[in-house]
Amino acid sequence: HPSHRRIAIFGAGYIGLVTGACFAELGHHVVVRDIQPERIRLLNVGELPIYEPGLGDLIARNKERLTFTLDAEEAVRDADVAYVCVDTPPTPSGDANLSRVWSVIDALKAASHLAAVVVKSTVPVGTAARVRAALDAAGLSHVGYVSNPEFTAEGKAVSDFLHPDRVVIGSDDPATAELIASLHEGIDGPVVIMDTASAEMVKLAANALLATKITFTNEIATMCEATGADIEPVTRAIGLDHRLGPHFMKAGLGYGGSCFPKDSRALRAMASNAGYAFQLLTAVIEVNDLQPRRAIQRLKTELDGLGGKTIALLGLAFKAGTDDMREAPSTVIASRLLAEGATVRTWDPLAQPGDSEPWSSTTRHFTPVEAMTGADATLIVTEWPQLVEVPWDQARAVMRRPLVFDGRNLLDPAAMAGLGFTYMSVGRRTVSG
Ligand code: UDX
Repeated sequence: HPSHRRIAIFGAGYIGLVTGACFAELGHHVVVRDIQPERIRLLNVGELPIYEPGLGDLIARNKERLTFTLDAEEAVRDADVAYVCVDTPPTPSGDANLSRVWSVIDALKAASHLAAVVVKSTVPVGTAARVRAALDAAGLSHVGYVSNPEFTAEGKAVSDFLHPDRVVIGSDDPATAELIASLHEGIDGPVVIMDTASAEMVKLAANALLATKITFTNEIATMCEATGADIEPVTRAIGLDHRLGPHFMKAGLGYGGSCFPKDSRALRAMASNAGYAFQLLTAVIEVNDLQPRRAIQRLKTELDGLGGKTIALLGLAFKAGTDDMREAPSTVIASRLLAEGATVRTWDPLAQPGDSEPWSSTTRHFTPVEAMTGADATLIVTEWPQLVEVPWDQARAVMRRPLVFDGRNLLDPAAMAGLGFTYMSVGRRTVSG
């Protein structure tokens, strides 16, 4: 097919693998390159270094159009288009660290007929101009540049990629924009073309607004606790206003993950570098940092102190459906609980917390009921659907005290009270059996 291209993808993380597998599914020839030997080894034996539903099947189905390598030169040698999907971790100031992006640009010198470089990594606004200058300096001035921010959410990345709300293509050159738009033939969603700086801004602004919506909801939940209102019907009714919509209004322990915390800090840092204090975003970041701490404070008051108490943490991943613990509220919560002198028992169906602090000071258990055995309180941190199915009557029998703090408003307060629990949640009245 004439519109099928050779694509090199740099970075075999969530974004790179999903992008590579989906482009192979659309008929393109894809080489994915990563610097971590273990990642490439796993991929070459048909295993996934990350957990993402549907991705394994997609890779297996498109084996003949999808290869994995450690060799950057091999990846770009025949490529028409190179995608940069490496991570851009925040520096202590909140700015993104672009060193991995620069090393990819360096590797592109080996390409013989490269037409375009596409940056999918989240980068500060203005990066396009810097990459353009780096490409020119590397003798790649004939190579076009596209900023193509990624909006896929973990857990549904494959379907988000193939059925996006929109594909944003930022380019200062119409022919390159057209080339990259054509790669998306077969994708079910509108393509929006704009200049590079605007495309970079869309990503940061969209994530900051979603983070703001969640945080606003969490503050209304706090007001519900203070006034006796109930956040669930409040958000349901607010969400029926089509100007506001029902999504991202679930009160909880604050947003986490690889994008919202990082992107909101990056936008704030960008504003401050530009001499502007982004006050609203600063407040969002502060309120979100406090959200898990508020939950612990409530638990501490209810238990008359946490020293010597045993707490079961159910769910470690930053959200359900993923093994990802990046910036998960569970980490802050476990650290705080340990610092207060509590014993922490954990359960999660997927996340592997590893053995660094705070996790090396906690114990892991195979089932929620096992984790709750002997506990003075249970804290639900991740909205795993399995937790709805827990035999809560059994949990009640094995816990030392019947106290559940549901940080995700997953369970039914009346049912929990009916089983004899004291049941606390976010933005809803505390009930006791
Ligand atoms: C997000 C964006 O959705 C995606 O567009 C972007 O490209 C990357 O960041 P992701 O981090 O995978 O994706 O997770 P998402 O499902 O958006 O949730 C982010 C965080 O917000 C999670 O910690 C989640 O628990 C929390 N959240 C979300 C709430 O607390 N309440 C909500 O109503 C929604």
